[in-house]
Amino acid sequence: MISYTGLFSLSGKVAIVTGGAGFLGKHFCRGLAEAGAAVVIVDINSDEVSKIAMEINSAATGKALGIVADITNPLEVDDVVNQAVREFNRVDILLNNASGKGPSHDAYFAPFEDYTLEQWRTVMAINIDAMFLMAQAVGRQMLLQGDGGSIIQTSSAYGIMGPDNRIYEGSWYLNRQINTPAVYSTSKAAVVGLTKFLATYWADKNIRVNALVPGGTESGQNDVFQERYGARIPLGRMANAPEIVGAVLYLASEAASYVTGHCLVVDGGLNAW
Ligand SMILES: NC(=O)c1ccc[n+]([C@@H]2O[C@H](COP(=O)([O-])OP(=O)(O)OC[C@H]3O[C@@H](n4cnc5c(N)ncnc54)[C@H](O)[C@@H]3O)[C@@H](O)[C@H]2O)c1
Repeated sequence: MISYTGLFSLSGKVAIVTGGAGFLGKHFCRGLAEAGAAVVIVDINSDEVSKIAMEINSAATGKALGIVADITNPLEVDDVVNQAVREFNRVDILLNNASGKGPSHDAYFAPFEDYTLEQWRTVMAINIDAMFLMAQAVGRQMLLQGDGGSIIQTSSAYGIMGPDNRIYEGSWYLNRQINTPAVYSTSKAAVVGLTKFLATYWADKNIRVNALVPGGTESGQNDVFQERYGARIPLGRMANAPEIVGAVLYLASEAASYVTGHCLVVDGGLNAW
């Protein structure tokens, strides 16, 4: 008899999570570990990598390996996959999730007319070039293993629709004015393109490739932003981080064995208007 809830178990699976020490990444790592996977947490932020790895390893059944790496560097990407295989023998799941702004807040949030090519390339290097490198390196490993896998790539609501710029007036995060720059939308739309390409390219190898498309998640934005953003959302509010995790666990698991090339949108209904 088939166990339908058993299909959601990730017991015996090995998952690599890039950006695993980030705001959403930590929730994804905790969720994957709780579902039974050994989790390889990859991030450039060394303090936070160790903290989340320790937290997971201190749980009774948790297994985690923290790796500090800059995944825009192809050599470091290869090293991540080698370390994961040395520690856990295989890789079944890749959550390609890292994103970045680069060092300058002002350069990242500059108006489109003034945006520099250097800043554009900094963001593209993290949000899409590194995603390509990780998918390539993990895909090679999955092909070697010969029994498929699940790759999930984090896009964004702004990869499939334009931002409503009216909500940003008076909107602040960590005491700084924010917006959504074109490079973010562009890189996140590219995630969808890469996902659909790889889904068909590796379909005959049973490597499923799907995009996770979260909407805005509450993480300390000021009240003005939360109210304006919430007013755009059919469910009337921003997401809470744990509400994004279930979609990852589903796509990672056998419950989604017939799902590939899909964009799983978790946005409170924003794109349904
Ligand atoms: N938070 C949201 O509301 C939201 C909404 C839609 C989509 N997303 C997407 O979800 C994903 C996670 O978002 P988040 O809010 O956790 O972001 P975050 O900025 O908190 O985390 C991103 C992580 O990526 C890491 N990183 C950056 N450059 C790296 C590099 N070169 N090598 C290794 N690691 C690197 C950072 O150190 C950070 O820990 C991102 O892809 C983001 O675009 C987030």
